[in-house]
Amino acid sequence: ASVPVAIVGAGPAGLMLAHLLGRAGVEAVAVDTRTRREIETTQRAGILEADVVRDLVETGVSDRVLRDGAEHEGIEVRSAGLPHRIDFKELVGASTWLYPQTDVFADLADARERDGGTVHFGIRGTEVLDAATDAPRVRYTAPDGTRHELRARYVVGADGSRSMCRDLVPEDHRVRYGTEYPFAWFGILAEAPASAPELVYARSAHGFALISRRTESVQRMYFQCAPDESAAAWSDDRIWETLQARVAGEDGFRLEEGPITEKTVLRFRSFVQEPMRWGSLLLAGDAAHTVPPTGARGLNLALHDVKVLADVLPRALGGAGGSALAEYEPRALQRVWRAQNFSYWMTRLLHTAPGASAFDLRRQAGELDNVVGTRAGRTYLAEQYTGWPTPTR
Ligand code: DHB
Repeated sequence: ASVPVAIVGAGPAGLMLAHLLGRAGVEAVAVDTRTRREIETTQRAGILEADVVRDLVETGVSDRVLRDGAEHEGIEVRSAGLPHRIDFKELVGASTWLYPQTDVFADLADARERDGGTVHFGIRGTEVLDAATDAPRVRYTAPDGTRHELRARYVVGADGSRSMCRDLVPEDHRVRYGTEYPFAWFGILAEAPASAPELVYARSAHGFALISRRTESVQRMYFQCAPDESAAAWSDDRIWETLQARVAGEDGFRLEEGPITEKTVLRFRSFVQEPMRWGSLLLAGDAAHTVPPTGARGLNLALHDVKVLADVLPRALGGAGGSALAEYEPRALQRVWRAQNFSYWMTRLLHTAPGASAFDLRRQAGELDNVVGTRAGRTYLAEQYTGWPTPTR
């Protein structure tokens, strides 16, 4: 088969790109090694920028986000047991939306079906050939065992943080930047009522914790743990004790407890590969850059890459070729590095590094006081957390 754009990876980035290209009259086929069910049931991020919500609604993906999502006008930052509200609305006139990535994905997959878009889930043996030429190809094995080849003009690598597409850029033509963290997140789902009206980010002597949610009756929470922690080794009681200790404070704040239905250790890092384009291959989302989860930038950043690509690719196909394509990286990359900085900064601000000295910990507490205790500090956090506009041409 032949198609203008082949997309490797049918997560939110790949499917949103296919959707936006479809609206621009450009056919795209997306393939993914995971089944739709696997993607839909893997817990991922939970927070969308208001711009992303607007794009989902205005481009006709779905207006379900407006009914099932929840607009949040701020967050709570807890420091040394004291709550501090960061009022996004008042500080920067912005808000965020709680709407799980699994729902974004389901809406996009439904929209592809509705619009007659082709997505092949559950494939194996993906190969991208001739990426540097004008005639790249994607080969894969379908679930029924048959081998297929897609001939495309452009291939987009939207295949996530363990991307195989990014390896196609020859070593002497790419640079990889990144850093590791000496901690991970222990993530749970709990059947319990919400404990707070907004998200709670807590820095404590015991380490970081984040209280988020999924629905009225299902809550999503995380706490900092060692990167080699085994989720199975933690009883429900020990998890609740840990979480309660990290959010406890003078105001008597306590989490509503309930049965824990999922326990996962989530490792993360900061990573960028440049360039984001190699010949006819374009990298988007986590394939090109990953951020630590603190501050909820990853999904939003991926969707911004895709928005730029959906502007550039139809023009490239329409005759502008390389000159349109050359716009992609500069327009995407500034936001990438801003998000890298913010995610790194917020992670370092709120987590307790193993082996931190008494000086390190007091300095860090001073930094957090500077953030929550000054209008400039709160405004900075609010601006970064709620996102940056996508640069236009
Ligand atoms: C969620 C995840 C994040 O990394 C974050 O900063 C906020 C919320 C979540 O999964 O709900």
